[in-house]
Amino acid sequence: MKALIVYDSGYGNTEKIARAIGSAITGDVQVLRVGEANPSRLESLDMLIIGSPTYGGRPTPAIQEFLSGISEAAIKGIKVAAFDTRLSTKWVGVFGYAAGKIAESLKVKGATLISPPAAFFVKGKEGPLKEGEIERAASWAKEITR
Ligand SMILES: Cc1cc2nc3c(=O)[nH]c(=O)nc-3n(C[C@H](O)[C@H](O)[C@H](O)COP(=O)(O)O)c2cc1C
Repeated sequence: MKALIVYDSGYGNTEKIARAIGSAITGDVQVLRVGEANPSRLESLDMLIIGSPTYGGRPTPAIQEFLSGISEAAIKGIKVAAFDTRLSTKWVGVFGYAAGKIAESLKVKGATLISPPAAFFVKGKEGPLKEGEIERAASWAKEITR
């Protein structure tokens, strides 16, 4: 299995989740910050997982730009999944969340989604992650790559 995990992270929480996902998957796995990944060089991948913090109900501008750079041809036949980090306070829900928007953007390009969008929770804007979220991320990764 050749997998690429692309993430953005303001305060390091989404990066921790991305690395936990990367460590839980066996095979040829790369975990790259969004600026290091090239959206037009996906052709040899079996799986692409994209994760972002939720900022104002959306993925970060850098993740949105990465998504815009993915062509229908580049994503064809690659299994994809999306995750985000977010607050658990209810009022923020009115804006929506990053993972659903990442998944939708990949879906309209014809990508094969292998999981519903996943959410991992932080205790505050700068973190830390809630207890157990690193372990939950590892389990999620194992589950979706089984
Ligand atoms: C400008 C800004 C906007 C945010 N908007 C939301 C939001 O709409 N919904 C939400 O659940 N969390 C929101 N948050 C909290 C982020 O989800 C949280 O900071 C992020 O998960 C931390 O991940 P990171 O350390 O990888 O940046 C916001 C944070 C910032 C700084």
